Amino acid sequence: MSTPDSTSGENQIKKGLAGAIAGTTSVASVEQGQLLYRGYEIHDLAENATFEDVAHVLLVGHKPSSSELSAFQTELQGMREVPGWIIDVIQRVAPKSHPMDTLRTGISLLSHTDEKTDDISPEDELRKSKKLLACIPTIIGAGQRAIDGKAVVEPDGSLSHAANLLYCMTGDRPSDLMAKVVDVSLILYAEHEFNASTFTGRVIAGTLSDMYSAICGAIGALKGPLHGGANEAAMDMLKEVGTLDNVRPFMDNAFATKRKIMGFGHRVYKNGDHRAPILHAWGRKVAEERPEFKKWFEIGEAVQKIMNDEKGIFPNVDFPCGMAYFALGIPVPQYTPIFVASRITGWCAHVMEQHADNKLIRPLSQYTGEPKRAW
Ligand code: SDX
Repeated sequence: MSTPDSTSGENQIKKGLAGAIAGTTSVASVEQGQLLYRGYEIHDLAENATFEDVAHVLLVGHKPSSSELSAFQTELQGMREVPGWIIDVIQRVAPKSHPMDTLRTGISLLSHTDEKTDDISPEDELRKSKKLLACIPTIIGAGQRAIDGKAVVEPDGSLSHAANLLYCMTGDRPSDLMAKVVDVSLILYAEHEFNASTFTGRVIAGTLSDMYSAICGAIGALKGPLHGGANEAAMDMLKEVGTLDNVRPFMDNAFATKRKIMGFGHRVYKNGDHRAPILHAWGRKVAEERPEFKKWFEIGEAVQKIMNDEKGIFPNVDFPCGMAYFALGIPVPQYTPIFVASRITGWCAHVMEQHADNKLIRPLSQYTGEPKRAW
């Protein structure tokens, strides 16, 4: 098929679909000026809501009343258990796998326990969404305990989603501050319209494939260091910098070698990511309680000043996340799985939205290969 004129008009090629509007959504709005989840602004949510409130807004579609919230929390707490045979597989693969691969495997195995895997009705996809939201901390926790060579910690139905996530990883019930910082991070990570992993999920859902397949694909996309994997890469980079004195030499070398500074820049936000300052402030609060972690914020802030002043590039949510989670004692390879524990709400909301008004997602391409030739 001859390629339509791709140099002008609506068929102009946009590498990486940069700036291309690929569809509509009512789930979130990501703009320079504000970030909205179904109309609620991110600062308002971070200040006044819990992650369970936000999960309800994204999955069920409206702000829960106090009785709806309590019922939602109880429902999720009752869905946290993962079959023992799946935990056994997690324990076997986790010590020698990246936790994102372990999590992807765990979710894929969960699909084999669901008699209605291929049911893409709104009701059943809401059920699946809650099940995935509830089970992901259990899978993450079992994986981390296997890495630590320790026994699996059973989920605690009395703890909030954020507190239970930490508890399943460490076996210790977190302080109110630690649980709060994780809860805020889950709110900030929950949803971001057509980012790479969400769009991956929508492309899969667009073929009328199932929720589990869409989520496994989305996890694969989020793992990459240009996307969700940046929170781990950002902290690894700060550890490579090591000291405040080494920031300038490190940055000079990074600029000279055109190295990407992880946790900085964004496809949409060119004047800064609304979420970053919120999480940075909460991370600083943890460092006040744990002064041994203050140095990482000082190094990070020095990196940030150079990127802002000399490149006009600002931190995205992954940069403060790295420092905050490090101060909380969370193992670095678990940072992106925790991103999944939150973004599962946005992903599932988009899969349900795609199935509710579907059109197969199949763009065009411009052929640059060999002209027609005889075999
Ligand atoms: C997330 O899309 C979402 O909403 C994602 C997310 C979500 O909530 O789902 O917000 C989560 O993925 C945040 C982004 C995490 N990724 C990183 O922190 C990785 C480092 N960042 C970069 O790779 C980059 O900023 C991207 C990939 C995030 C965005 O890149 P773009 O839009 O494709 O822009 P670009 O790479 O073309 O950069 C434009 C210029 C380039 O300079 P030139 O090559 O044209 O001279 O800015 C430079 C880039 O080199 N630049 C950077 C940089 N980011 C951009 N230079 C150094 N370090 C960086 N981080």
